[in-house]
Amino acid sequence: MEILKLSLVVVLFFIVLSVQSGEVKEIPPCSFKAVYVFGDSNSDTGGGSAAFYPAGPPSGETFFGRPVGRGSDGRLIIDFIAEHLGLPHLSPYLDSVGTSFRHGANFAIGGSTIRNQNESMSLNGVSPFSLDIQMIQFNNFKGRTGYLYNQVKGHSQRRNLPRPQDFSNALYILDIGQNDIAAGFRMKNDSAFHAAIPDIVEQLAKAVYNLHDQGARVFWIHNTGPIGCLPVTLHYHLKPEELDSHGCLKSQNDFANEFNKQLKERVIKLRAEFPDAILTYVDMYAAKYELIGNAKQEGFFDAADICCGFHEDDIHVYCGNKLKFNGTEIYAGTCEDPSKYISWDGVHYTEAANHWVANHIISGSFSDPPMPIKHACHKP
Ligand SMILES: *[C@@H]1O[C@H](CO)[C@@H](O)[C@H](O)[C@H]1NC(C)=O
Ligand SMILES: *[C@@H]1O[C@H](CO)[C@@H](O)[C@H](O)[C@H]1NC(C)=O
Ligand SMILES: *[C@@H]1O[C@H](CO)[C@@H](O)[C@H](O)[C@H]1NC(C)=O
Repeated sequence: MEILKLSLVVVLFFIVLSVQSGEVKEIPPCSFKAVYVFGDSNSDTGGGSAAFYPAGPPSGETFFGRPVGRGSDGRLIIDFIAEHLGLPHLSPYLDSVGTSFRHGANFAIGGSTIRNQNESMSLNGVSPFSLDIQMIQFNNFKGRTGYLYNQVKGHSQRRNLPRPQDFSNALYILDIGQNDIAAGFRMKNDSAFHAAIPDIVEQLAKAVYNLHDQGARVFWIHNTGPIGCLPVTLHYHLKPEELDSHGCLKSQNDFANEFNKQLKERVIKLRAEFPDAILTYVDMYAAKYELIGNAKQEGFFDAADICCGFHEDDIHVYCGNKLKFNGTEIYAGTCEDPSKYISWDGVHYTEAANHWVANHIISGSFSDPPMPIKHACHKP
């Protein structure tokens, strides 16, 4: 008994030691067999294109050589995560062509919010696939694929279906919130928006409750990025006193920070509510903000520069679109070298920037607890 206790202490000591030194040699990786993703365009690998209008060129040009439903020139952070875990890129739940769900599914759709926006659906760019709907879709997916898996026999009929036993040891990624904040700005009432943040956070917690009910145990929860650094905002002629040290719109970043603070507190509470689950809080804000602040040193142009898109004063031509202005046609095509830009289209990041952020978060250095993603199933 004493020896057992002692060895447990030794093991724990090594785990703590190894996490602090940024290396986790002693604990085996989790070998996740599946990943389920919920979110917005930052993680949309084709769901929005399946549901609405397919993304057009030049999106996808850098990595895929064609548009593949991603708001970028190439891979998204979630693609790099899947690759790092040794899994294929995730199929969108809504895609009806060429999908495989053996290793998970992606429920993220561009424009999605945490809160159901049913009273403001007319607002431009808001998706009807808010997080509560994504939960309904997931529950339906799990039930139907489980039924089918047991109906059919043989590898060839089952190979595109998730193994029912993989749901409980899959990785569940939540990457959503930016559009709730954008919707908050459209309310044009800061105090009302501020008062709404606890409810937004609570709705995200509800999604965790639902997933836990469905058997999920390992959660990887991204906070929201520095929305006030998005170049579409920055092209407005902002006064120097409105900007923070990285040249971003301070008032917008303050809202993101407030949301993130409350989200982190809620994740800590969720840990206490679910001792059988492991919840990692990932500080995407800090990772992206660090890249933006060090753009030059990291080999990028200024973070306010946009690879694809034309924005000047009141003229907005979004990436891949044309606009006739004063007799001349403006086409917003791609830049010469997307790998030099952080922003792909003013809102979304380039493949190069996504790669940078992915490399920095998978190591666990922006996570609480600071576990690498391959070890996210272990308690610190
Ligand atoms: C729409 O919003 C109302 C009030 O905000 C809410 O009670 C209702 O449940 C919502 N509908 C859906 C489908 O979520
Ligand atoms: C802003 O929201 C607050 C709180 O909901 C409300 O009391 C106030 O009247 C609103 N102000 C405007 C200008 O709508
Ligand atoms: C529109 O085009 C005309 C003729 O080329 C030019 O004189 C005028 O300055 C242009 N207006 C704007 C707003 O660019």
